[in-house]
Amino acid sequence: MINSYNKFAYIYDELMNDFDYQDWYRYIEEIFIRYKKEPKEILEMACGTGNLSYYFARDGYKLTCFDASHEMLSMAYKKLNRFKNIKMLNLDMIDFNLNKKFDCVLSICDSINYITDKDDLLIVFKNVWNHMKDDGVFIFDINSEYKLKNIIGNNTFIEDRGDIYYSWENYFDEEENICDFYLTFFLSEDGINFIRFDEEHRERAYSSIEILELLRKAGFKGGECFECFTFEEPNARSERLNFIAFK
Ligand SMILES: C[S@@+](CC[C@H](N)C(=O)[O-])C[C@H]1O[C@@H](n2cnc3c(N)ncnc32)[C@H](O)[C@@H]1O
Repeated sequence: MINSYNKFAYIYDELMNDFDYQDWYRYIEEIFIRYKKEPKEILEMACGTGNLSYYFARDGYKLTCFDASHEMLSMAYKKLNRFKNIKMLNLDMIDFNLNKKFDCVLSICDSINYITDKDDLLIVFKNVWNHMKDDGVFIFDINSEYKLKNIIGNNTFIEDRGDIYYSWENYFDEEENICDFYLTFFLSEDGINFIRFDEEHRERAYSSIEILELLRKAGFKGGECFECFTFEEPNARSERLNFIAFK
């Protein structure tokens, strides 16, 4: 990974406070009900600061979660270390081997877009397949091509939250289908003195057709794509797509 999710990890939850992870958890539970799955052992890839993991841990699922960023995991650890049914690991989605199979593998909040090479994404999907029990379910979402190209790409966002001021400058490369984000943060404890730090993030835009094809190549069956948080077909302006695939 490039310089991402380092110091940003410490303010991630504050900046994500408009995301309702409990709703996301409910959506995943609805998926379990819809497809008659009763998973007990779950693997969550790129768990970040553990915002979704918290609900699975709270409700007694046996959860293994991992992330490539030490800093994100250290925040997750603070939130989750009191649960005995959770294991947290520092691993990369492209190269992990847990020697164990799960009923369900999850990855949320566009973490899959961070796999910017298509061949690597196939490796990730194959790896997930190898870590799933027969009849297991794989659930993940991506930022849509439409969102990365037209909403985030070639746009600058500035937000002033008083103690955190940040800019988010984004460029979309049409040839590579890559969106580069340049983030600059200014943080203050007293509203007078600010410290600055910078990060670069990079997400690849994948079409739903590309994702479904890669899932099929990796061995999955019945790949489905929905407008995230619904069971509706996505449209040309859908911003987040949710995929469900079965072993
Ligand atoms: C947008 S955050 C989402 C975090 C978390 N899933 C959430 O919902 O808040 C993307 C996460 O993906 C992680 N990540 C990016 N590339 C990764 C990789 N190759 N392997 C594991 N984690 C990765 C980052 O460290 C970061 O925590």
